[in-house]
Amino acid sequence: MVATVSAPRRNVELKAMDPDPARSLAVCRELGAEDKGVLRQRDTYFRTRSGRLKLREEEPGGATLVQYDRPDTAEARESRYRLTAVPEPDELRASLDAALGTLVVVDKQRHLLLWDGVRIHLDTVEGLGSFVELEGVAPPDSDLSGEQEKVARLRAALGIEEILTDSYSDRLLGADALVAAAREAMERAHAPYSRFRVGAALRAEDGSVHAGGNVENAAYPQGQCAEASAIGVLVAAGRSRVLEAAVISDGDAVCVPCGGCRQRLREFMPLDGRIHLCARDGERRTMTLEELLPMSFGPEFLPG
Ligand code: THU
Repeated sequence: MVATVSAPRRNVELKAMDPDPARSLAVCRELGAEDKGVLRQRDTYFRTRSGRLKLREEEPGGATLVQYDRPDTAEARESRYRLTAVPEPDELRASLDAALGTLVVVDKQRHLLLWDGVRIHLDTVEGLGSFVELEGVAPPDSDLSGEQEKVARLRAALGIEEILTDSYSDRLLGADALVAAAREAMERAHAPYSRFRVGAALRAEDGSVHAGGNVENAAYPQGQCAEASAIGVLVAAGRSRVLEAAVISDGDAVCVPCGGCRQRLREFMPLDGRIHLCARDGERRTMTLEELLPMSFGPEFLPG
């Protein structure tokens, strides 16, 4: 039997962090975007040799297998994808997991709006925070210029400056690796007095990871927090800018950095840098440095 397979679909898309989802929603409404409601989506990404493959399970809605490919550029970019409806998601997930292995699972709530053929996604992703995505879906014969233009107009209306080049799955995998490094440092902490071991890991701008644990001392005030140890490792490695951090303790609650360590991080991190606060059992809460340290004092206040 010969079946015809359609050409991949195409769209022009961009993604950005959304510091104020309520404002973005208000802007969309003002532009007259059609509100398609809130969806719960769970994407299971499988290991692949090339491109990406995920099983999307949506509520309300059903399940779809999505295969796609796109370049990692900091511009609104073209994505080519194929969608296959999946009537038995549990079975398919189990077979793909057995054959290929699962890479990561992304859980999110998506507020979907439609504006002049552009899909607007106001996403809250578990473990990552809030984002806005724009997808200008292209008809088969389009040269994509119309889609580019519409996405650019929406981008301006929403005040989007910095476009993200990585996907939610990349971000979650990056966060997992950072948490693993923090956990390893925690296991090597020297905390015989408090018996409260802490590990911190910092991702520098070039992607390198630097980690340290708390180091206590019989003369108690000489003890050092894990964040301070990690910062020492970072600086010794010749780095000075941190884009993402993880802090973990072997306690039951997620580990929050002490006030002094929030200020220590402030020296090296932008205010929108993410900090993953973790508990021993894997529970995680992600916050920005600004949320942890509002109205803060930093190096830029000092005369240059
Ligand atoms: N600790 C850290 O390492 N980081 C923090 O941000 C909070 C506290 C350590 C310091 C000390 O060794 C132990 O936890 C108990 O206070």
